[in-house]
Amino acid sequence: MATEPDAMVPVASLADLEAEGRTVVAENGRAIALFYHEGEVYAVDNRCPHMGFPLTRGTVEEGVLTCHWHHARFELEEGDTFDPWADDVQTFPVEVRGDEIFIDPDPPQTVPPNVHWRNRLADGLHENLNLVMAKAVIGLDEAGEGFHTPIETAVNFGTKYRASGWGRGLTTLGCMANLYAEVGGRDKRRAMFMGVRDVADDCAGEPPRFQQYAFDNRDLSKDRLKSWFRESVEVRDADGAERCLLTAVACLDPEEVAEIVFAAATDSLYLNAGHTVDFLNKAFTTLDHIGWHGQGDDEDPNAAKVLASTVEQLTDATRSEELSSWRNPVDIADLVFDAHDRLPDLVAAGEGTEWNEPEGFVDELLVDDPEHIIDALTDAIREGATQTELADAVVRAATRRVAWFATNNEFADWNTVHHTFSYANAVYEATQRTDAVELYRGCFDAAMSVYLDRFLNSPQAPLPEPGESDRDPADIREELLACFDEQGQVNRAATLVSEHFDAGGDPEDLKRVMGRGLLREDANFHTLQNVEGHFARFDEAADDWERRLCLMAPARYMAAHFPTRRSNEQTFSIATRLHRGEKLHEAE
Ligand code: FES
Repeated sequence: MATEPDAMVPVASLADLEAEGRTVVAENGRAIALFYHEGEVYAVDNRCPHMGFPLTRGTVEEGVLTCHWHHARFELEEGDTFDPWADDVQTFPVEVRGDEIFIDPDPPQTVPPNVHWRNRLADGLHENLNLVMAKAVIGLDEAGEGFHTPIETAVNFGTKYRASGWGRGLTTLGCMANLYAEVGGRDKRRAMFMGVRDVADDCAGEPPRFQQYAFDNRDLSKDRLKSWFRESVEVRDADGAERCLLTAVACLDPEEVAEIVFAAATDSLYLNAGHTVDFLNKAFTTLDHIGWHGQGDDEDPNAAKVLASTVEQLTDATRSEELSSWRNPVDIADLVFDAHDRLPDLVAAGEGTEWNEPEGFVDELLVDDPEHIIDALTDAIREGATQTELADAVVRAATRRVAWFATNNEFADWNTVHHTFSYANAVYEATQRTDAVELYRGCFDAAMSVYLDRFLNSPQAPLPEPGESDRDPADIREELLACFDEQGQVNRAATLVSEHFDAGGDPEDLKRVMGRGLLREDANFHTLQNVEGHFARFDEAADDWERRLCLMAPARYMAAHFPTRRSNEQTFSIATRLHRGEKLHEAE
């Protein structure tokens, strides 16, 4: 460790250290432990890098310093740890001049903080170490890297170290990257921690993934690649589909790639209970955050690694036409396939016409008659409704299923209404990316799933009507947070959200408080998705009642699932306190 001679300061007497074996000195506001071991003097930061326990309370044997709290071990000379979960401990240059010990308390940094924390984040992802990831996210944010480095590092890891590719973890990461802008202050760090830790958790114990290669031929048309990709997905040929998709990424622009992907994703019905389209949508969203192309000398564009990793979501998916619930007692799969067949004529009939959504159109999508629903959708297409307009109406119907969810149902059925909402929302967001005609089919699927969920609104949960309130909106937000501390406050949560609107509170403040309530919990994948999706819908909502629904629905969902054990928050809080230099153990 290079150091300037005049940077050395006297800190202790050699004779005293020889007699005691160890001591602590204070320099530049930090405690430094000195050890006399095997005839040499060593200086290390007295705070254990794991959780701050004083290392002078540890044991030194054969050149190894062992902390007594969780028994992390460090090589005494350079501070390298034997235990990656603990991190290396900082050491300081030492000189003995006569009887006096000199140290450099502020040695030059060999690794810049952003590089150190990037490496630690990679370590945390590889070993699935929550505390390491929390510290790294905080350290990167402090080093001015925001969320870009965490998301990019986690995408690189997650697309490589999970044989089956894109899954829950990377979807959570994309979801958290979206939520990042909606939450305030330290919750941004929580969001990033939540995202990267779910990637690590989802990849833990998984074999790695080996990516295929694009075809050499770059003169392939979009239509040819689209047809090959769909055929490969149809016969569940993952390797063939991946090669077609990688070639599409190499040859086509992002909108055309999206067309190919979402066409294949809607050839069959409501794949994987809606997860497939949802995951694909989040993969594209993630690319919005990290860029279609990689940076620097990375030869592999981000789009290639991200989209190639999604292929098994398509080829291995359960197709809802294979499910009894889509075949009996009404063959709704047949109804939907029939509508697929009619699509070219319907679209041609509506060309050049502007659709104005009729009053009560969303109510038409909530009736107990699947044929009526399909007719309402196909009539709309014939009258010129765009994919976006139709998807928007369907996702509003899906939001009502969540907002009206009756708590007399089985608890697990919250997932069912969530799946429908999440799928409908993904179809809507996909229509912002491509105007592929096939996305109308996603609207049919989502609407049929809304239909299948109808009994989960029986009885329909009561929602508060808009009114007036003279309460302070800040008090209402406090009460909402407190309501998430108690189990079963589902209807109260909706009432408080409604009251916040009545009192004229700023919905952005309300969203930030809901974000805080979400990120302090061990919220499951569905809850995170539900809140993020409804926040996005809120931003697009056309009127006051829709905006209320977009926040009442996730508030009910959160209240149904909270409180949890908050173990992630415990980890995040430990990392934050360590970062601030606070004591965690009485022995410190
Ligand atoms: S091993 Fe030192 S504090 Fe945990």
